[in-house]
Amino acid sequence: MSGVRALTAWPRGRDPGKVAPMVRWGWPLVLVLAACGGTEHAGDAGLPADVSVDAGDSGGLADAGQPADAGDPDDAGRPADGGGSRGLPRLRAADPAAAARGGKALVEDSFGGQLVPWLGIRNLWVVWDARPRDDATYWGDFNQRYGAVARPDDPVGMPYGLKVAGQTATVDCLFCHAGEVAGAPVIGAPASRVDLEGLYDDLVTLAALGPTYGFPAYPIPFSLDGFTGAAGAHDAMGLGLRLAAAATPGAPAPAACGHQRPAPWWTAAVKDRRYADGSARAAGYRTMMATLLAFGLGYGALVAQDAEFQDVDQYLVSLEPPAWPFAPPDPAAVARGRVLFEDRCAECHGRYDGPARGFPERVVPAAEVGTDPTRAACFTEAEAAWINLSWFGQPEGMTPTGGYLAPALTGVWAAAPYLHNGSVPTLAGVLDPALRPAVWRRTGSGAAHYDPAAVGWRYDTPAAGSPDTLEGRRVYDTTRPGLDNGGHDYAQGLSAAERADLLAYLQTL
Ligand code: HEC
Ligand code: HEC
Repeated sequence: MSGVRALTAWPRGRDPGKVAPMVRWGWPLVLVLAACGGTEHAGDAGLPADVSVDAGDSGGLADAGQPADAGDPDDAGRPADGGGSRGLPRLRAADPAAAARGGKALVEDSFGGQLVPWLGIRNLWVVWDARPRDDATYWGDFNQRYGAVARPDDPVGMPYGLKVAGQTATVDCLFCHAGEVAGAPVIGAPASRVDLEGLYDDLVTLAALGPTYGFPAYPIPFSLDGFTGAAGAHDAMGLGLRLAAAATPGAPAPAACGHQRPAPWWTAAVKDRRYADGSARAAGYRTMMATLLAFGLGYGALVAQDAEFQDVDQYLVSLEPPAWPFAPPDPAAVARGRVLFEDRCAECHGRYDGPARGFPERVVPAAEVGTDPTRAACFTEAEAAWINLSWFGQPEGMTPTGGYLAPALTGVWAAAPYLHNGSVPTLAGVLDPALRPAVWRRTGSGAAHYDPAAVGWRYDTPAAGSPDTLEGRRVYDTTRPGLDNGGHDYAQGLSAAERADLLAYLQTL
C-alpha cells in the first residue's frame, strides 16, 4: 500500500493547526453492551482512565455546517396515543424539553470519550481497495460495507452514531439503534445490518500499517472475534460483561451471551423492564450507558454526564412506534386476527385495543419459550451482584431472570428481524416455524427489500458463509452458537388463513 496516499487533511473545514497531537487514546473499538457491563473500574480496561476530552466540543458535525436541528426524531412516529383507545397505555410520560435535549445528544453531540483517530475512520478505504474517495462516495461505501444508516440530514451521508469530536471519532448508541426500515431511516429501530466486528477488523488492519493513516502505534487490547454473530446481531451483553470483568478484581469470568438484536426503543414508554431478559428496570437508566465506557469515556466523565443520560432516557420514552406505511390490511382480517391474538397471544404480549388495554411484562423461562437459551442463561446472580454495587446499579439494580421478556408488539412490523437474536427475518416466520430459513441473507436495503406480505425482510438463502468475514456475516446462519431460530411455536395448530389474519392484525400494532 505504500503507493497510496493517505488522507491527511482535516475534512469538512477543520483546521489541523488547532488540533493537538494525537496521543493517548486507547482505541479499543469495544462495542459494548448496552445491557450492563460496567463497574467503577471498567474504564481501566485498556482504556485511558479519564480521558481529557473537551466535553464542550460537540464535535465536527455541528462545525461542518450541519443544521442545528438534526431532524425531528419523531418524524416516523404515529401520533402520540395520549391515552386514546389503541395501542398500549404509556407507563411513563416524557418531559418534552428533556426529551428534545436527549434526542439532540444522541443524534448530534459527542458524549466525549476517545475511540479512534478521525483520520483512521476516514482512511479505511486504504484497507478496502486502496482507492481514495471523495466524502460522499466514501460515506456511501462506508455505510454499505459496515451496514450503517446514513443520516438524512448529513450533507455527505455520514451515518447515525458516528461522532467526530476534535480529532477523534466515536461510535455510539445510534450506530446500533437507528435502522433502515422499508427505505426510511428510523431512530430506535434495530440497526439490522450493522457489522461492528467488521469495522473493528478493518481498523486493526489499518492501525497495523503504521501512523501514516492516522494511527499512532497502539496496543490493541482485545479482540472482537465473535462479537458480531451476523450483521445486526451483536454480543453487546457478553462483551460488556467481559470488559468490565477484566477490569474488576474478583469479578466473575462471564460467559458469552450469544448475539442480540436490540429491542426497538419506542417500546420504552409502555414497559418497566429493559433488555431481552427483562433484567433491568426503567429506573435503571444507567445500565444503558455502560457502552460509553467502552468507547473511551472515563468513569468520572460518565458520572459527570448523568443528567444528559437522563435526558437520553426521556428521549427514548418520547418515541412513538412508526405506523405501517403500506396499504392498510383488510379490516375484516384485522378483526379476526384480533380475536385470535387475544385468545392465543395476549396473555404474554398484552392487549392493544379497547378498555382492557395493557401490557403484562411477562418474562417467560427460556426453556418454556424455547428460543436460543444463550442470552437468558448468561446473566446470573454473580454478575448482577457485582453490577449492582457499581454506579450502573444505582438507583436501580439488575436482576437475572433466566427467561425472555415477551416484548411489547407496538410497531413490531418495523422491528425485523425477530426474536431476541434477530434470527427470524419475517413475522410470517415467527408465526410459522416452517417458514424460518436456516440460512438467510437480506436481499438489500430500501423499500423494495421490505416484504409487506410476510412483514419483514426479503431474503435469499445462500450457502452459509464464514463467520470471520464481513461477507460471511451478512449471511445469518442459525446453526451457529447463539443464533438458533427455534422455539416460540405459539401459533401451532392455526390454519394458514388464521395466521394470515394474525399477520394483518400485527401490521396495525
Ligand atoms: C454495539 C451496538 C450497541 C451500542 C453502541 C448501543 N447499544 Fe443499546 N443495545 C444493543 C443490543 C444488542 C441490545 C440488546 C441487549 C439485550 O437485550 O440483550 C441493546 C439494548 C438497549 C436497550 C434496551 C432496550 C429494551 O427495551 O430492552 C436500551 C435502552 C439501549 N440499548 C440503549 C442504548 C444507549 C442509550 C446507547 C448509547 C449510550 C446504546 N444502547 C448503545 C446494542 C447497542
Ligand atoms: C407464553 C408467552 C407467549 C405467548 C403465548 C406468545 N408469545 Fe410471542 N413471545 C414470547 C416471548 C417470551 C418472546 C421473546 C422470545 C425471544 O426473543 O427469544 C416472544 C416474541 C414474539 C415476537 C417477536 C417480537 C420481536 O420483536 O422480536 C412476536 C412477533 C410474537 N412473540 C408474537 C406472538 C404471537 C402472534 C403470539 C400468539 C400466536 C404469541 N407471540 C404468543 C412469549 C409469548
